[in-house]
Amino acid sequence: MAVDIILGLQWGDEGKGKIVDYLADRYDLVCRFQGGPNAGHTIKIKDKKFVLHTIPSGIFREHITNVIGNGVVLDPITLSKEMHILDQSGIGYKNRLLISNKAHLILPTHRYLDAATEASKGQSRIGSTLKGIGPTYMDKTGRNGLRIGDLLTPDFAQKYRNIKEKHLNLLRLYPETDFNLEEQENQFFESIEQLRQLKFINSEYYINSVIADGKQVLAEGAQGSMLDIDFGTYPFVTSSNTTSAGVCSGLGIAPNKIREVIGIAKAYCTRVGSGPFPTELHDETGDKLRTLGNEVGATTGRPRRCGWLDVPQLLYTIMLNGVTQIIITKMDVLDTFDTIQVAHAYHYDQSESIELPFDIIGKNINPVYKSFDGWNENLSDLTEYNALPDKARAYVSALEGLLNTRISMVSTGPERDKLLAK
Ligand code: GDP
Ligand code: IMO
Ligand code: MG
Repeated sequence: MAVDIILGLQWGDEGKGKIVDYLADRYDLVCRFQGGPNAGHTIKIKDKKFVLHTIPSGIFREHITNVIGNGVVLDPITLSKEMHILDQSGIGYKNRLLISNKAHLILPTHRYLDAATEASKGQSRIGSTLKGIGPTYMDKTGRNGLRIGDLLTPDFAQKYRNIKEKHLNLLRLYPETDFNLEEQENQFFESIEQLRQLKFINSEYYINSVIADGKQVLAEGAQGSMLDIDFGTYPFVTSSNTTSAGVCSGLGIAPNKIREVIGIAKAYCTRVGSGPFPTELHDETGDKLRTLGNEVGATTGRPRRCGWLDVPQLLYTIMLNGVTQIIITKMDVLDTFDTIQVAHAYHYDQSESIELPFDIIGKNINPVYKSFDGWNENLSDLTEYNALPDKARAYVSALEGLLNTRISMVSTGPERDKLLAK
């Protein structure tokens, strides 16, 4: 057993990138297993900030190999931009960034379709990042997709033309959308040439051989469990399994190889895009969380919706993922709140429950809150867990009780070293 997983327990943006970057030092391999450039994982090293969309967050640790797994959907344009940023920052990565032959390619017409289908939904739109994620996974399951390994086959150009033709036919069903296909295609083919500098591998064999050699693997989740295609707030979800099950299918790892499942949760809750959010705050407190937490989408720049921590929601995702430990991020954002609220149950259909109803969209869910005293102290300069104010430790202990799961670390700032192990 040598595979640990880091994944988001809420609606994404829990701070996974920061935690993967920090813990990567303990592993030999860091692998992304699902999602694509809809992800935006922020890493702050000293005063330099990086946002990764496709490249695993272990890339800043020199001795670590990073794999983009078969479950990922990959846009060559985004990836080549990320490569450029690493090049400019003098980070050597070419011999330690490997791509699965089986990862599916996001084509320009996938993004075109994403834009057209979202626009046609009007008010009921999902709030997609418009990175082509849905259409690419549709082509994968519809058995039409193109994969990284196809780039090396002699008939790639013909395969590309066939699928593009299909997409253009589909696009005729939708109203006109502004999209410069020619320009995007030029960028796409230029970016493919950049990608050829990297190694395309049969990653399922590679990862399993690394495990067989007794080495340590970290699987990096994207999005959050509440955006999972099966268990999230459907249809306001993404198109992949963001839960721990996605590691098996997205990397070719058997379940009995999985050891720790490290769930990342913010000390409060955010969501970007549309869909249900029971503890959302539409008031000054929500605005304060957004401002202090700098809650702006790392991929789209959209403001994130904010609210209090939601225990029924977390109990659900702890159950689905088999979480063995939790890391709470952004504790410092709560430094100036006199009172901190946590929803410990929901009230709907005339009774109290901790079960998320099937019809979470249509139901009038009233969260039932518990209040905690704020600590009113600056946490970001502390260097050990025991130095936390009593009230902050009481908050963490209460959460452990409510969630029935160990909290192993608390994050107190965006920088790499702002992490207190318990
Ligand atoms: P990810 O998608 O889960 O990797 O998270 P994002 O990068 O989209 O969003 C998390 C944001 O919070 C980023 O701007 C991080 O730099 C920042 N961040 C991470 N941990 C902390 C923390 O403990 N405190 C504060 N204040 N910011 C944090
Ligand atoms: P990271 O990895 C937060 C949301 C979008 C939208 C829905 C579907 O940074 O945590 P899609 O582009 O997949 O069609 O969008 O999912 N979404 C995310 N929200 N963090 C993410 O990734 C997200 N990736 C997708 O806002 O509501
Ligand atoms: Mg993010």
